[in-house]
Amino acid sequence: MKISRREMLKISAGAGAGLLLSELPALSQQQPQLMRTIPSSGEMIPAVGLGSARTFNVGPPNPEWVPLGDVVRLFHEMGGRFFDTAPSYGTSEQVAGQIAQELRIQNDLFFATKISTGGGRQAGIDQQEESFRNWGRDRIDLNQVHNLRDTDIHLRTIRQSKKESRTRYVGVTTSFGRQYEQMEQVLRTEELDFVQVNYSLGEREAAERLLPLAQDRGLAVVVNEPFNVGRLFGEARGRELPDWAAEFDCRSWGQFFLKYILAHPAVTVVIPATGDPEHLVDNMGAGIGRLPDERTRRRMEALFDDL
Ligand SMILES: NC(=O)c1ccc[n+]([C@@H]2O[C@H](COP(=O)([O-])OP(=O)(O)OC[C@H]3O[C@@H](n4cnc5c(N)ncnc54)[C@H](OP(=O)(O)O)[C@@H]3O)[C@@H](O)[C@H]2O)c1
Repeated sequence: MKISRREMLKISAGAGAGLLLSELPALSQQQPQLMRTIPSSGEMIPAVGLGSARTFNVGPPNPEWVPLGDVVRLFHEMGGRFFDTAPSYGTSEQVAGQIAQELRIQNDLFFATKISTGGGRQAGIDQQEESFRNWGRDRIDLNQVHNLRDTDIHLRTIRQSKKESRTRYVGVTTSFGRQYEQMEQVLRTEELDFVQVNYSLGEREAAERLLPLAQDRGLAVVVNEPFNVGRLFGEARGRELPDWAAEFDCRSWGQFFLKYILAHPAVTVVIPATGDPEHLVDNMGAGIGRLPDERTRRRMEALFDDL
């Protein structure tokens, strides 16, 4: 089956996606996803990942699992790999793990999870074990200390797991500006592979010091809350995408917000969350085609600030 570039762009814009969803495997073979390198290993990874904080927290099997199954399947078929979750996201880690196992892709995805407990060392170890079980895996790709909670304690647990070859990469996360100073200190003093931080057109503070520091320290950077927890769509509601967005192959506001982030030189992976298969297809389109240059990024900021 041959799919034209026009049809491809139509799908990646989200328009008419329902009609063409079944054709996506063929499509992904024609349009490679943007890849980035993990500095500590040289491993290449697709730059558009998938978050799961609220979207996969839907409880035991019920009809809400159906679109989520499509989201995970399409993500994989379109070349996505990096899946971010946490044991503290309600049922998200279990739901995603079960869907991935039903699709038999649990070992194909890059499984990124977290230790998120203030309950001490054993509680962290227990959470880590639960993550292995939730995804039916004997290896976690990336485990992260969530929101710098008990960083010292949980870094020891994750490093031990790495030593035993049960975890591949070690990381830390935040999504709070008030933790940036503490995060800078952690990045300067700890040996890490990844840092995860919030950064978007609506929250640009991380670009001032954290992102350059992460780059200097040779860390892979994961960007969370790329739509500022969906608020950016509210800002753009009713506004036309500017004509010049076509200059960097951008067909929707979702791609506008994601391409802005992906064009930052420190960024390795961005993890938009969605429970909607059409939005997933839209978001994956951000990993296809050109990215804005630095001058255009300034123009994007000015336009966003005027919305
Ligand atoms: N400290 C930490 O470690 C930390 C903190 C925060 C977040 N995270 C991670 O980062 C992930 C992303 O952050 P987030 O979930 O807070 O928020 P987000 O990705 O900034 O925004 C998600 C919202 O955007 C909507 N959306 C997604 N794609 C869209 C599209 N193409 N068009 C229109 N609406 C769209 C989603 O609704 P639909 O479902 O309707 O698409 C959802 O309401 C989390 O899920 C989590 O994995 C980590």
